[in-house]
Amino acid sequence: MKKVLLIITSLFWLALTINATKFVNLTPMPKHITVAEGAYKLPESYSINAKHLPDSICVEAEKFVQTILKTTGCKARITSKKKADIEMSLDTNLPNEGYKLSVTKKKIQISASTTSGFFYAFQTIKKIMPAHVMAGLNPEQAQAIIPTFQTDKRPTIPCVEIYDEPRFWYRGFMLDCGRHFFTVDEIKHILDGMAMYKMNYFHWHLTEDQGWRFEVKKYPRLTSIGSVASDCRMNDMEKGYYWLGKPYGPFFYTQEDCREIVEYARSLHIEVIPEIDMPGHIMAALAAYPEFSCTPEGEHKVQTYQGGVWADVLNVGDPKAVQFARDVLTEVMDVFPGKFVHIGGDECPTSAWEKNKLCQIQLENLIKEGKIKDLGKENKHRFRPLQSHFIAEMNNHIKARGKQMILWNESVTAAGADLELIKSTGATIFCWNPCQQGAAIASSLGLDAVITEWGPGCYYINRKQHDGAEEPGAAGSGGKNDQLPAVYAYKPIPDNVTEPALRKHYAGVQATFWTEHVSDIRYCDYLAFPRLLAVAESAWSPEEKKDLESLRKRFTADTLLFDLTGRLYGKHFLLK
Ligand code: ACM
Repeated sequence: MKKVLLIITSLFWLALTINATKFVNLTPMPKHITVAEGAYKLPESYSINAKHLPDSICVEAEKFVQTILKTTGCKARITSKKKADIEMSLDTNLPNEGYKLSVTKKKIQISASTTSGFFYAFQTIKKIMPAHVMAGLNPEQAQAIIPTFQTDKRPTIPCVEIYDEPRFWYRGFMLDCGRHFFTVDEIKHILDGMAMYKMNYFHWHLTEDQGWRFEVKKYPRLTSIGSVASDCRMNDMEKGYYWLGKPYGPFFYTQEDCREIVEYARSLHIEVIPEIDMPGHIMAALAAYPEFSCTPEGEHKVQTYQGGVWADVLNVGDPKAVQFARDVLTEVMDVFPGKFVHIGGDECPTSAWEKNKLCQIQLENLIKEGKIKDLGKENKHRFRPLQSHFIAEMNNHIKARGKQMILWNESVTAAGADLELIKSTGATIFCWNPCQQGAAIASSLGLDAVITEWGPGCYYINRKQHDGAEEPGAAGSGGKNDQLPAVYAYKPIPDNVTEPALRKHYAGVQATFWTEHVSDIRYCDYLAFPRLLAVAESAWSPEEKKDLESLRKRFTADTLLFDLTGRLYGKHFLLK
């Protein structure tokens, strides 16, 4: 008997070992996966039983069926019968966004408790199918792009058992469209890339010193003047750095463009978070409406120098300027239906407020009324609480619409910031610099933190990804700490944060992409990939599942998908 048991146990482990070595190309890594021998071959005509499920889930099945039809020619019968080739069932025990997937040689079974869960199950199926499916192409179209591309006539899906759920509810990517502009189609291309890796928030940085990109009907000069820079330093894959030598713009998104992006993102289960940066990084708006600056009679222009922090900020002591900010947010909230509104709050010098009569009066009045703390006349951060108060005012406006405000970490880390006021807003804090200090303060205040650390080895994936001599110019050195392994190794929750009451406020991670050095989508892709995979896996998969060699193998396999979808990528960490 003992011998039989031993043989059975050995066979079991042997099977597991074989399974462990069988490669399935899925990023981010699921929470649990076992891989079996063989594959399910999708019949030319197959059934999928979605009709008994709520409409929104049925829509996910229909989207999947359409993609399969378009890319493979296999036709589906959507039924309400219990038995089907692809069987879908609701399982209310599964977590939000989680799913179970079983692929055997005979059938596919999917269960989830939410529409998002089913969406991610379908994303997984498409991802482990031949690359032309996720690319949205049929084999002939794929061969027209890559002549050597080969695939089975009947598409196969490897046999797997998956239990999956994300580590974090927030899995974001930010694009700065203020310094350089990206078209609606280019934004959709970015959203496609995010969805492949199960990222669910697109943080859209819409305004900067260098350009205002969001149409505001009440203030038309924001886009007629604020979206045009007199010149612009470009940097693209073909030409490298150069000055345009003519006006850059007008480049902006109409409200209709924004609605189109929101709808496209929604179909990929991505929420768009608009960011209107205030009260700093707002020179483009002040060029259009100097009356809202601290020096209305002074010179104001859309900034042409790409980097930097400028002292020309919104006059938070002037009720008219504060109302302007509210009006802008009103239109933002009309256009973007999501829960979150990001109002920036980073890198805002107070020097213009210190010299401005209205700000001086406002500061004294607020101190007298006990609405902000008095740091003392000699304190060089004396005016910072004005910003905290402005943030609280914007929060009242955002909360009145039932939405949730997001801020950069300066709101809690800048010397003199009024932490009680910020705590009272319930805002979510996006932590970049000092990132982990920001997250520690935020969580101790009971505020959620999103980790998007800026420096080398972190999540600002617009930095150079390698230091080779042929590498195009970008921020950072591209040294070891900017490279894929370092980004992948970064732990969003440090080991020393052990208390559950604090850990629960680490809401997620974000890959952030600034465009000081990037003026075209091809270069954006090149810098973002493959590091986006590293951040996406850190966002979705358990920390202990991370395995650099495995990631490199999956990235190497994904180059087929990138080539098919016209996406550039760095080749430094491909497996040979
Ligand atoms: C930032 O990088 N200024 C948020």
